[in-house]
Amino acid sequence: MPSQSRGVSVVDPFKLGVLGNRPGRPGLWAGAASGAASIYPGRSLLTAAAHMAWLVFYGGLAALLLAAAWTVRTLNWALWQPRRLERILRSQGLKGSSYRPIRGDVKDIVKHNEEAWSKPMPSLSHAIFPRVTSFLSRAVETHGKENKVTFHWMGSVPRVLIADPDQAREILANKTGEIGRGKINYMIGYLLRGVLSHDGEKWAKHRKILNPAFHIEKLKRMLPAFSSCWDELVDRWEKMAETGKEVDIWVDLQSFTGDVISRTAFGSNFEEGRKIFQLHDEQSLIVIGSLIMDLLIVNSLPFVYIYIIYRYLPTRTNTRVEAIDKEVRDILLRIIRKREESMKSSDAKSDDLLGLLLESNLQHGREQGNAGLTTDEVVEECKLFYLAGQETTALLLTWTMVVLSMHQDWQERARQEVLRVFGKEKPTYDGLSHLKTVTMILYEVLRLYPPTLGFQRRVLKSVKIGGVVYPPGVMLLLSVIRMHHDPDYWGKDVEEFKPERFAEGVYKASKKNAFFPFGGGHRVCIGQNFSLLEVKLTLCSILQRFSFELSPAYIHAPHIVLALKPQHGAPIRLRRL
Ligand code: HEM
Repeated sequence: MPSQSRGVSVVDPFKLGVLGNRPGRPGLWAGAASGAASIYPGRSLLTAAAHMAWLVFYGGLAALLLAAAWTVRTLNWALWQPRRLERILRSQGLKGSSYRPIRGDVKDIVKHNEEAWSKPMPSLSHAIFPRVTSFLSRAVETHGKENKVTFHWMGSVPRVLIADPDQAREILANKTGEIGRGKINYMIGYLLRGVLSHDGEKWAKHRKILNPAFHIEKLKRMLPAFSSCWDELVDRWEKMAETGKEVDIWVDLQSFTGDVISRTAFGSNFEEGRKIFQLHDEQSLIVIGSLIMDLLIVNSLPFVYIYIIYRYLPTRTNTRVEAIDKEVRDILLRIIRKREESMKSSDAKSDDLLGLLLESNLQHGREQGNAGLTTDEVVEECKLFYLAGQETTALLLTWTMVVLSMHQDWQERARQEVLRVFGKEKPTYDGLSHLKTVTMILYEVLRLYPPTLGFQRRVLKSVKIGGVVYPPGVMLLLSVIRMHHDPDYWGKDVEEFKPERFAEGVYKASKKNAFFPFGGGHRVCIGQNFSLLEVKLTLCSILQRFSFELSPAYIHAPHIVLALKPQHGAPIRLRRL
């Protein structure tokens, strides 16, 4: 701070012209000086005025510096950094679109997807890559057909599409902290928390505590829960089949898998679980709507900053999302506290995911001598079961029924196998290992219609992959759909439904083992056994009771809204056997 002794000798703000009139002159300055005198009683008017001048000068200087820093930051974000990253990528031989400030390729992505999604697939074909991610399909054709690696721009961030299985595995195996999950959009953050959103030690701790709950021996104990959900669905479908009504299986199977998660996660608190599922569903719709809004807003540049502020205002959408978040949290807290109480008073082993998670958490605390997950963290993991497990499994079931409706010969082969193994009896866990045809069919459906089309990572520190050094700030998109539909790995018949390609298992089905429906490496899907068990049991029960075909109203139009969905639903005709 300037003092009386320093006076105005260091820098004279008046010489610099920052403050206008010198003291003693009439005008604005005189008013300020008399105000200053009342703040600094006992000092001379001139000293107090000089003090005020310094305050104003430094305040102005600070404001200028802040504005300069903000300008530099914005220019770096919008221009310098993207241009620098583009130069680094191109200098190493990578091809991609040229950077266009701030919006990057977002406008083209929206435009190409809208165009592709405005009409159905030309036939009941499985060649879905160009329709589902039209922009990426064109980008691959234009830039990177040979090297399987090409880049485009998500706003000002370069995103490298990786479609080489070896490079994908290298990225998935990276544990050195050079590659991480990266930032999550604030709205997605409402849905996507828990283990899926963490990195490093936090991730390792959460994953370690969660793992035992998904062990296959524990999953076997959940079979009765699966089967009660199935009984409800089958009753409904039998009635529909009798009246000859068509069923939109996409709608029904979403409720079914929601029920399965509610029962398998919360056991006796199933009804409260159902309520969470409904709230989660509403929240997902709002979040998806807001993401679409994000994309559209990035297209109308002048509104970007207004929109960023708007996100934090108490609008109806924002308030509702927060209210749902609180309600779900309150329900889960009640369930968890009740469960913790009953665990204290009884030694009975748990059969549901929550109970298993709480047991594992306690054991972790005992063995490691440090605290396990907090109650809030347990709440986040429970919410994640719905996001990660419900819709993906419903999609696998839906696409399987759609594809088996298109390929009646395979539907019949699968049915014969199920009847041979189980007859008309309820499917059992042990019997499932004898289902070779059903397993091959599910893998082939996961190849052609992977519910998760790809997943992203962010480069945190420079890292070399496939001979290219990626600097921090680059996003990596591991494109599952691209690898699953690439003739170089699967052969010329890549777009044909041929379950027999999995006859000798997953590894021998393609060159370079290009099969990633559940991800890979240490972050491979924790729920894949859970999901495959649920899908196999359900499919067996369906095949035992019904034959099915596509309704004439069915429109083949796979598209992507977070996951690979049937754009116009999946109306199916069921016939009781
Ligand atoms: C067909 C069904 C499913 C598919 C296709 C699927 C797909 C995936 C994929 C691709 C990943 C890796 C994402 C990444 O590396 O960024 C993943 C992770 C995960 N999945 Fe699944 N999933 C399915 C079912 C389930 C189920 C039923 C649950 C739980 C109830 C579940 C829970 C999780 C969790 C917690 C992770 C994060 C693992 C981690 O980061 O350590 N998933 N899933």
